[in-house]
Amino acid sequence: MSIVSGAEILKAAREGNYGVGAFNTHNLEITQGILAAAEKKSSPVMISMSEGAIKYGGKILPEIVRILAERSSVPVAIHLDHGASYEVCMKAIQLGFTSVMIDKSHEKESINIEETRRVVKIAHALGVSVEGEIGRLGGIEEHIEVSHEDAILTEIVEAERFYRETGIDYLAIAVGTSHGPNKGVGRPFIHHRRIKEISDSISIPLVLHGASSVPAHLVDRINRAGGELNGAVGIHNEDIKKAVTSGIAKINTETDLRLAFYAGVREILQSKKGEIDPRKALGPARFEIEKIVAERIDVFGSAGKA
Ligand code: 13P
Repeated sequence: MSIVSGAEILKAAREGNYGVGAFNTHNLEITQGILAAAEKKSSPVMISMSEGAIKYGGKILPEIVRILAERSSVPVAIHLDHGASYEVCMKAIQLGFTSVMIDKSHEKESINIEETRRVVKIAHALGVSVEGEIGRLGGIEEHIEVSHEDAILTEIVEAERFYRETGIDYLAIAVGTSHGPNKGVGRPFIHHRRIKEISDSISIPLVLHGASSVPAHLVDRINRAGGELNGAVGIHNEDIKKAVTSGIAKINTETDLRLAFYAGVREILQSKKGEIDPRKALGPARFEIEKIVAERIDVFGSAGKA
């Protein structure tokens, strides 16, 4: 298959009533794990990198992702997660990303609209899709930390205005989810009615950030192997499925991959104390990534849609 724009993948998802995972990568093994799962499940996929990931991996990271994506048998969009500025988005486009998120959701609405519109103008001329965000999620993002009290749900009129004035391809909305492994207690709150109301008023695909399920079995494995994760809770699979039927098409998932990776690495470090071959830790971690991505693809409903 080939590298495609984010809009190509997400329009089909919206029309077909299924979700597509946007999985964050930081290195070769995570990227291989994501693509192996997508290929096994015959699912389209979005591979996301944040500015932090690009800083960590250098410009070679998007190159690695691009080469692996080109060889993949499924459609892949290469996505910039939480681009902090116009300049960062332009750099990502130069590096071959086919989808960029401009995140000015922490600024005044007028600045958010203006900056997003600037990115859309250039990106669309080059066939690159754009994600904007309105509202404010709780949790830790790449460049900012928002407490649960400061999180703000996306308003319907705001979403309409933002879409109309910017021309974005898909919109990230704040509906109660938050980044990271601590999303609340019990069954974390997610405002299903608001998702439906927004998708009834604007027809573009909607994006759910902070969508990790934080599987208890992975948290347990990490803690049993010497980790200390307290109060880790994620979004229930039933809530994700319901959100997809209400209009969510892009489902951002990073924490679940981090948990899977660390479960694999920690267990090896604990059980094989004399081991010093990096491949003996990173190989199993890569397989853990493949397993969790395959599980998520089944929940999102994108298996067989490639
Ligand atoms: P999680 O922390 O729930 O995986 O969310 C990641 C995310 O939304 C990246 O943009």
